[in-house]
Amino acid sequence: MAAVEEERFNRVKYAAGFPAQAIRYCLKEAGLELKDIDHVAVPRNPYARLATKLFYAMRMPSFTRERAKVLVKFTGIPEALAQAFDTNPATLGAKFHRVEHHQAHLASAFFVSPFERAALLSADGLGDFASTMWGSGSGSRMKIDGAIAFPHSLGLFYSAVTQYLGFLKFGDEYKVMGLAAYGEAEQLEAFRDIVRANGDGFRLELEYFTHHRTGPEMSWAEADKTPTLGRMFSEAMERRLGPKRNPEDPLEQRHRNLASSLQLRLEEIYLGMLKKLAQRTGLKAVCLAGGVAFNCVANGKIFDKTGFEQVYVHPAAGDAGLAVGAAYYVWYQKLGKPRAFVMDHAYWGPGYTREEIRRAIDANGLGQNGCQIEELAEHALMQRTAAIIANGEILGWFQGRAEWGPRALGNRSIVADPRRPEMKEVLNQRIKHREIFRPFAPSILAESTGEWFEKSYPSPFMTLAYSVRPEKRDKIPAPTHVDGTGRLQTVTRDANPRYWSLIKAFEQLTGVPVVLNTSFNDNEPIVCRPEEALDCFQRTQMDALVLGDFLITRS
Ligand SMILES: [Fe+2]
Repeated sequence: MAAVEEERFNRVKYAAGFPAQAIRYCLKEAGLELKDIDHVAVPRNPYARLATKLFYAMRMPSFTRERAKVLVKFTGIPEALAQAFDTNPATLGAKFHRVEHHQAHLASAFFVSPFERAALLSADGLGDFASTMWGSGSGSRMKIDGAIAFPHSLGLFYSAVTQYLGFLKFGDEYKVMGLAAYGEAEQLEAFRDIVRANGDGFRLELEYFTHHRTGPEMSWAEADKTPTLGRMFSEAMERRLGPKRNPEDPLEQRHRNLASSLQLRLEEIYLGMLKKLAQRTGLKAVCLAGGVAFNCVANGKIFDKTGFEQVYVHPAAGDAGLAVGAAYYVWYQKLGKPRAFVMDHAYWGPGYTREEIRRAIDANGLGQNGCQIEELAEHALMQRTAAIIANGEILGWFQGRAEWGPRALGNRSIVADPRRPEMKEVLNQRIKHREIFRPFAPSILAESTGEWFEKSYPSPFMTLAYSVRPEKRDKIPAPTHVDGTGRLQTVTRDANPRYWSLIKAFEQLTGVPVVLNTSFNDNEPIVCRPEEALDCFQRTQMDALVLGDFLITRS
């Protein structure tokens, strides 16, 4: 019924700490109170992989102290929940369940997928001392076939090289994936030594890393601060690949080639694991989660390289999705309920009424600041808005309920004309202030996908990248990456009627069933409330803003 990340409320990207506001919102949306809740699922199991933990605990006392603090945080959940709702923990009637990290990832993908049977793979940095887990699902059950324990981790491998390349922020792996398209994989052999395929999985050559000695040092100075990671690559990595890049150093071709080599090695390992999984299980469908499942470039190659023909990636494949995964794990695997739900759209966050939007607009005083405000009927709104986009103007588009997961999918989006090659720079200069090498994404009418892309399997959550057909590339240059791919969102009328109608109106005007879609924010979490959309509109140089039925233009 509802799913949302705490960051959308407290406005701190990747916020940690107890998600009290998110829980309050979900209960409100469901019309429930805390006392109505029978089961609470917590996606962390302190007893998972205890032997591995103890082995490393003896070697890394400081890491163990950090983990112990985290453990305390997670064992006090009934108390934290009661405190957030100002009640006595003794009055909570709910049963608390612990679900291991990667089992929650797998559950988040399989139990909401459209598949009755599917192979499952979760891969990330680290969670409950594992980095990777695979198995299969059938009906209301999943079965685990294997896992890879710390310190071997594809996520930490990618993060370590991301750091080495001078991108130090949490989540910067995306930038390196974008950069990879500009290089040649000239260092592939080096990366084949750094990560080796091993049995059904892989192993890291640990001399190139430090995390197995120090632990992956994630600092959360205060509960609500953005996380930062300690240094993860060793001097051996620099000896092998050359000197590291500092964040202020210029990007050279060598760096692009390294990014390209890293990405290719990730694909070799990840797709290799998937291929073996397809062979072992004999299944045609696969469900993916964990941070590595956001590697849309690798995901786009699954159809050609693994034997799988159907792919489902949970829209919140990162650790936010653990909440949904743990809940479904309890509902199906533990309580044995029959499968009854497919997450075929991602609009599970807060929505606002016409009156709430109207009040936000009035309170903002836009009318006095030379903006024009009109309330339009559906057809007129689509015509006007499509014309604004086709005219090369930048549109803020705020509709319905906020997206679940990190991608804006047409409810909290900035939309622009994909036909204009200069649009990428215009967006970067005026609003997004991102590195120029990062691509923007196309949203396409689902029924037109095969005409514009070389594959047509649905990508409703922007988790797959396909090649744009060569003859179409100069028709949508703005969201086509330098290597000819696009991280597309396929939009159906069922999943998002309004966004579909907007793209349809744009197609009727221009012959192109595609718009450029980027998240509605400016170096902050994606906007959630109409007030934040209005703030962002005023701070940036957006040309027009649609909030529900209201169209706001600068005159
Ligand atoms: Fe994870």
